Amino acid sequence: MEERRRTDDGIVKEAIILPRAELRESEGAVHGAFDYAELARFGLDAGAVIDFSANSNPFGPTPAVTAALAAVDPACYPDRECLALRRALADHLCAAPDEIVAGNGAAEILWLIAFAFLRRGERVLIVGPTFGEYARMAQLMGAEIVHWRATAADGFAVDAGSMAARIDATQPRIVFLCNPNNPTGAVVEAGVLAAWAAASPQILFVIDEAYIAFTDGMPSAHALRLPNLLVVRSMTKEYALAGLRLGYALGPPALIAGLAAARVPWNVNAYAQAAGLAALGDAAYLQRTLAQLRAAKSDLLAGLIAQGYAPLPSATNFFLLPVEDGARLRAHLLAQGVLVRDCASFGLPHHIRIAARRPEENAKLLNALEKTKDNGRKTNA
Ligand SMILES: Cc1ncc(COP(=O)(O)O)c(C=O)c1O
Repeated sequence: MEERRRTDDGIVKEAIILPRAELRESEGAVHGAFDYAELARFGLDAGAVIDFSANSNPFGPTPAVTAALAAVDPACYPDRECLALRRALADHLCAAPDEIVAGNGAAEILWLIAFAFLRRGERVLIVGPTFGEYARMAQLMGAEIVHWRATAADGFAVDAGSMAARIDATQPRIVFLCNPNNPTGAVVEAGVLAAWAAASPQILFVIDEAYIAFTDGMPSAHALRLPNLLVVRSMTKEYALAGLRLGYALGPPALIAGLAAARVPWNVNAYAQAAGLAALGDAAYLQRTLAQLRAAKSDLLAGLIAQGYAPLPSATNFFLLPVEDGARLRAHLLAQGVLVRDCASFGLPHHIRIAARRPEENAKLLNALEKTKDNGRKTNA
């Protein structure tokens, strides 16, 4: 914790307080969405840039959310247990309130899982390429990280048999799987998850369903109701509440109680709770905007194919696009007011990730790409 720095002649020069070694060694995780310091460096105003790098509902929240926010009293502490929200979620998900714990975004839920269930030196198996927070959280807890990685050659599909063998060989404390996966959009069927989890009751399976609402009715792993499986959900994506931060875990009451015990008090603020309730109450808005988004995504894919690109199939609202140099293309597009996710941090420097947006915004992306030389185009390069 405390380190004394010595000069060459051995005299103590200063004492400095250092964070834990895991924190000093952490490389952090790279995320999409605006980097405001970067925008400032480029002299760009966030309001003038269209963000295809964050995978949220581009139609924004229902107007019911705006009304609910106006009624919140900022002077009152929020409900520590998020009871009204958990009851509404329970109705919505055919679950019980004690199967749910709410968090300050799914990101906090992932943190709580690592904090509650991971001990220093234990192993974590991450199914990649995937969201960087699983590795960051595991590393901060002092865990040993092992990977199973899908390949472009296999269309980023997760091979059930090969994963089962990896689970068997590595005997991790936790398996992290994003389903559908960020950034590939690949899906692992519930039956496969059930077989893995049943074969290894001592292993906690964390299934991150942050993007499940954007699929065509993919069933949740929660329906399996397994004692060693936790589902992570975000309400910042389909309900467009990224700025407010809201997510939850869904699972057996015993595991949920462990997460609840690890929270900071009042972890979900009053605005987020009110917004979540209002968003859940307007199912028609959600269904309408998700249907519009699906149509917009399919038009965008057609536009990219017409330009000679070969977007990869994805079960959700975003997809990978093979390009020559993701970082360079991202920089070119940003200069034109369009932000995409360069996938180098996923180990995919020749891909960008694009989240479909509203039709008029997608047209701007296609237009910007048209003006940008990229030899990753397959046919008319
Ligand atoms: C797979 C995945 N899980 C969790 C999160 C965190 O979501 P939230 O905004 O709810 O914290 C993200 C955000 O990008 C994500 O991509």
